[in-house]
Amino acid sequence: MSIISVTDLHKHFKVNKHRSGLAGAVRGLFSTESTLVRAVDGISFSVEPGELVGYLGPNGAGKSTTLKMLTGLLVPTSGQLLSNGHVPWRERKTYVARIGAVFGQRTTLWWDLPVIESLELLQYVYKVPRERFRHNLAEFRELLELGPFLNTPVRSLSLGQRMRADICAALLHEPDLLFLDEPTIGLDVVAKERIRQFIRHINRERGVTVLLTTHDLSDVEKLCERVMIIDHGRLLYDGQLAALRDRFGGKRELVVDFAEDEGAAADLSVDGATIIERDGPRVVYSFGRETISASGLISLLSARYRIRDLSVREPDIEDTIRRIYEERLLEKPSN
Ligand SMILES: Nc1ncnc2c1ncn2[C@@H]1O[C@H](COP(=O)(O)OP(=O)(O)OP(=O)(O)O)[C@@H](O)[C@H]1O
Ligand SMILES: [Mg+2]
Repeated sequence: MSIISVTDLHKHFKVNKHRSGLAGAVRGLFSTESTLVRAVDGISFSVEPGELVGYLGPNGAGKSTTLKMLTGLLVPTSGQLLSNGHVPWRERKTYVARIGAVFGQRTTLWWDLPVIESLELLQYVYKVPRERFRHNLAEFRELLELGPFLNTPVRSLSLGQRMRADICAALLHEPDLLFLDEPTIGLDVVAKERIRQFIRHINRERGVTVLLTTHDLSDVEKLCERVMIIDHGRLLYDGQLAALRDRFGGKRELVVDFAEDEGAAADLSVDGATIIERDGPRVVYSFGRETISASGLISLLSARYRIRDLSVREPDIEDTIRRIYEERLLEKPSN
């Protein structure tokens, strides 16, 4: 049975129309003119226990709004949502006892308290048995390298330290489900990697189901098999990351180093591939999956010429996803 099940979920915000200038602002105070922002506009999906799913989309797509509904912070305008057996905003107290959430943009810890005291307060709030708390803290302290700043007030932490403390705080009560909204935002590569390893660990070793939003596609490539892509509040894609690349991945490239004496004179062109670079004996071909396979191209070339070395370059996921955002490649024709 699914751990999260979302059906035709909507969240609309009424926003007062902005007027420019002082006169406009004064008029705006007395006017009821407003526009409707469809932040989430009819989304359906389900997540199975133990999955680690990437929830992607450009700025303003509706990701955080979805996560806020999933964590019970916002009440949907319409639609159904069942998560871990609860309707999040209706049964908030029992629900939050079994979930964890990290919103990368802000901390859930007490600003003026040392990290350890914040964590102890959470132990009390969530009624985590003493032994479990001690055991979990020891494990997370090591994996997240919390030791050096456990006694530092949260307000004095660096961004990377604060994020690690927040992630620890979200997991001390052993939730079944973890929602992460940009947990690697603004972090350096080392800090990002540490957080990725930790997310993978708690998903694999502890079986925690994770829903993750991020703008860092390395996070996605390293962590998620399944991704959902949303834009303008609608789901554009829900499926395997690998399939996304196969379908929308653009062209691949074959880099060939010909034996010197194949000579500059040779034509070297092949049906189904285009030469995009030529530098002495090195030639770069671009080819689409629909016209020729890499092995087909390689056997054609090696039947005709002597080859010293070759390599295939796959289009990177960043390009693929950018193309989807820009061209809205996945958009179905409206009916
Ligand atoms: N409380 C609110 N009141 C009015 N509009 C809102 C509110 N919260 C979000 N929105 C609007 O809803 C849309 C979706 O916002 P949301 O924060 O969910 O996007 P996001 O996908 O998380 O973007 P980002 O990647 O920038 O974090 C945006 O147009 C945003 O301005
Ligand atoms: Mg957001």
